[in-house]
Amino acid sequence: MGVVGLAVMGSNLARNLASREGNTVAVFNRSREKTDHLLQAHPEAGFVAAFSYEEFAAALTTPRTAIIMVKAGRGTDAVIDELVRVFEPGDIIVDGGNALFSDTIRREKAVRETGINFVGMGVSGGEEGALLGPSLMPGGSDESWVTLGPILRSIAAIAEGEPCVTHVGRDGAGHFVKMIHNGIEYADMQLIAEAYDLIRRGTGKSPAEIADVFAEWNRGELESYLIEITAEVLRQSDAATGRPLVDVIVDQAGAKGTGAWTVQTALDLGVPVSGIAEAVFARSLSSHPEQRAAAAGLPGPAEDAVGTSVTDPDAFIEQVRLALYASKIVAYSQGFDAIRAGAAQYGWQIDLGAVSRIWRGGCIIRAQFLNRIADAYADAADLSVLLSAPYFVEALGRAQDSWRSIVATAATAGIPAPAFSSSLAYYDGLRAPRLPAALIQGQRDFFGAHTYRRIDQDGTFHTLWSGDRSETAAEDTH
Ligand SMILES: NC(=O)c1ccc[n+]([C@@H]2O[C@H](COP(=O)([O-])OP(=O)(O)OC[C@H]3O[C@@H](n4cnc5c(N)ncnc54)[C@H](OP(=O)(O)O)[C@@H]3O)[C@@H](O)[C@H]2O)c1
Repeated sequence: MGVVGLAVMGSNLARNLASREGNTVAVFNRSREKTDHLLQAHPEAGFVAAFSYEEFAAALTTPRTAIIMVKAGRGTDAVIDELVRVFEPGDIIVDGGNALFSDTIRREKAVRETGINFVGMGVSGGEEGALLGPSLMPGGSDESWVTLGPILRSIAAIAEGEPCVTHVGRDGAGHFVKMIHNGIEYADMQLIAEAYDLIRRGTGKSPAEIADVFAEWNRGELESYLIEITAEVLRQSDAATGRPLVDVIVDQAGAKGTGAWTVQTALDLGVPVSGIAEAVFARSLSSHPEQRAAAAGLPGPAEDAVGTSVTDPDAFIEQVRLALYASKIVAYSQGFDAIRAGAAQYGWQIDLGAVSRIWRGGCIIRAQFLNRIADAYADAADLSVLLSAPYFVEALGRAQDSWRSIVATAATAGIPAPAFSSSLAYYDGLRAPRLPAALIQGQRDFFGAHTYRRIDQDGTFHTLWSGDRSETAAEDTH
């Protein structure tokens, strides 16, 4: 098999492949330097280097299998064009880059017409995952999966004895699920950041002391890679100044776009992924220093306002933990809802339980918690909303008072906690017996004759607002 694109992800994935019994890996990169460097640095891998697409194709046994790991976008299209030129029907091209799923749908359709198989595959785990075992989310045809399955199982992370790879669904399904994975990752990180901020401002503990809190949390139901690395980051002190590293890092969060894609896609699907959206927007807000400077003098509680209201720091920290767990359940529930809606829209058969299992190892959101999601879907594969599974109902019940108290404390003290509070608002919206959506329907009917349905009769209705205000049967113009 072969790998095209030998930057950090491609070269690590190639080394992972080469380390498996019986594999010989051909490698190719657009510019020669990366290939030379990889060969020099890792002679033990026994790579077969190619310096043209023709050489690359000739080095592969048929049916050929090549994994592309290049900068997503035009680079991917350029490499696909070249591979299609030198490959034959029956060969398999796998795109392991972070492609937008709609691009993958387009590419799969175009490549399929040549008789070559095209598989868009989500790869999670960063450079270490690529080397030691990533979580893999391949889409593409059933036929490709027959060939690819054993290869991918051999290089994927292992969680509780199972390789973290499943055939997610056809064409763009793998990249769709990877996109949602990244969206959930945004929400999870934002929630953790809000928890840290609340604890710091609420208790006055230092980052190193808060690192101990996170390390402790990592031994309980919140156990996850992100909680683990949060403790590591908070414990780090800056060599140059001796201050906590987190205090010398500029507080403007970057983004590579997959969170925004998740939200844009969810808007199109009509799925409320509010936790993910708040996380994306919170990064955007942080990255406008000019607006933040202009707003710095706006009225509101003082920076240390929360400290005075926290009389029992340990109890406060436990409340934050419960609020974090409840908000995290909401974020994951919303993410799985988006996958369910995407599957319905694009005709994919996605096993949500299998998705939660392949995220248990290798990837950034790996967590104990994913076992609970797997259990929920094992009990009820057609669960309409993950929140309603018995385990989550219990956890959300346990968190109620703390969750509300923390959101109220944040609001009162002027601490921004957009993901905590939007998760709670979503939760309350979902469980409400009646929503003010009825009023919105009334308003829409008033200004635009958009009609409404009644709770006590079938049909669609319109009130003659500018006439005698009687009600008439109407065509549904929703
Ligand atoms: N970094 C991560 O943690 C991570 C995790 C999961 C997925 N990914 C995805 O994995 C892929 C690779 O990521 P990366 O960080 O290793 O590399 P990258 O910086 O995204 O891309 C660099 C690679 O793309 C090649 N490339 C760019 N344009 C090209 C073109 N027009 N034709 C041929 N090759 C082209 C470069 O070749 P030259 O050397 O010739 O410039 C180089 O090999 C990306 O799609 C990324 O989004 C990354």
